[in-house]
Amino acid sequence: MTSSDTTLGDYRFFDLKPARRNMHEEIVAGLHAAEKRIAPKYFYDERGSLLFESITELPEYYLTRAEMTVFDRYGEELGAVIDGGTCLVEYGGGSSQKIRKLLETGQPEAYMPVDISKNHLQNNARALHRDFPGLSVYPICADFTQPFELPNVADGCNRVGFFPGSSIGNFDPADAVTFLSNIAANLGSGAQLIIGVDQKKAPEILQAAYDDAQGVTAEFNLNLLKHLNEVLDANFAIDEFSHEAVYNENLGCVQMYLRSRKAQQVSVGTDLVDFARDETIHTENSYKYHLAEFQTLVQAGGFTVKSIWRDERDWFAVVLLEVK
Ligand code: AVJ
Repeated sequence: MTSSDTTLGDYRFFDLKPARRNMHEEIVAGLHAAEKRIAPKYFYDERGSLLFESITELPEYYLTRAEMTVFDRYGEELGAVIDGGTCLVEYGGGSSQKIRKLLETGQPEAYMPVDISKNHLQNNARALHRDFPGLSVYPICADFTQPFELPNVADGCNRVGFFPGSSIGNFDPADAVTFLSNIAANLGSGAQLIIGVDQKKAPEILQAAYDDAQGVTAEFNLNLLKHLNEVLDANFAIDEFSHEAVYNENLGCVQMYLRSRKAQQVSVGTDLVDFARDETIHTENSYKYHLAEFQTLVQAGGFTVKSIWRDERDWFAVVLLEVK
């Protein structure tokens, strides 16, 4: 065998030019609503992404570790799902730690991370292509919460989607169904989806995961205001807001808020926003599911459940779905 026998993977970047809604308009509309809110996607500026990585290492934040355990325990089965002529499509190509874990046991033909943030996406994709030279890597810049089509390099291959981390929990259940329907259309009938989901458990455990003793999650939540100060020329006084995380048992989700410590007025560019003392900004929902509830949800989104893999405590599940 000569080195020319080694098949080299392809690398191509596809820019679907996602329509970025005006951030200023969206934020100001949320801050003028009766119940103030900011979408969780605004957490992830550079510092926010680093803080999230620190969160995944906290003793209280069991989600990432539990999911990695599942990938380890069921590596062979997962590897078999993505083997051969598979095109693996990851929705959100953020950190490549999890995909690297799957690549220990499976050998897909191509990897397509789909992400709205172009630089982040290309940096991770290039690094992966460098480390796995046989793998074709096709980063796609797109907003995966909106319908879009995969480029035709994915035609004819066995399509497998990947949506780890219980990111599905950020959607309200109705939006999760819409999202899953979009993904089902995107992948096509017969395709599979590997999805991570955090299960319902004791409220104290859930609450602690989002309100850790070291205060990293508080910093992550408050960093949102710093981000707005920088990007939108706002003047939030970070010390005048506090982090709050509560498990809402009726809704089955952890809700994060930023609470104003006093009555205050904040400017966001040329807009003025009034806060009463103790008024909150809702920044995130993280839904938790019983597996039976999750099954109903994915069925409504056009999928059937093929396998369920769990960690030893049965806290987090990695579920294999098939498009109906
Ligand atoms: C990345 C959305 C899965 O909801 O657990 C972690 C984000 N927020 N701590 C989650 C998050 C606060 C995380 N997801």
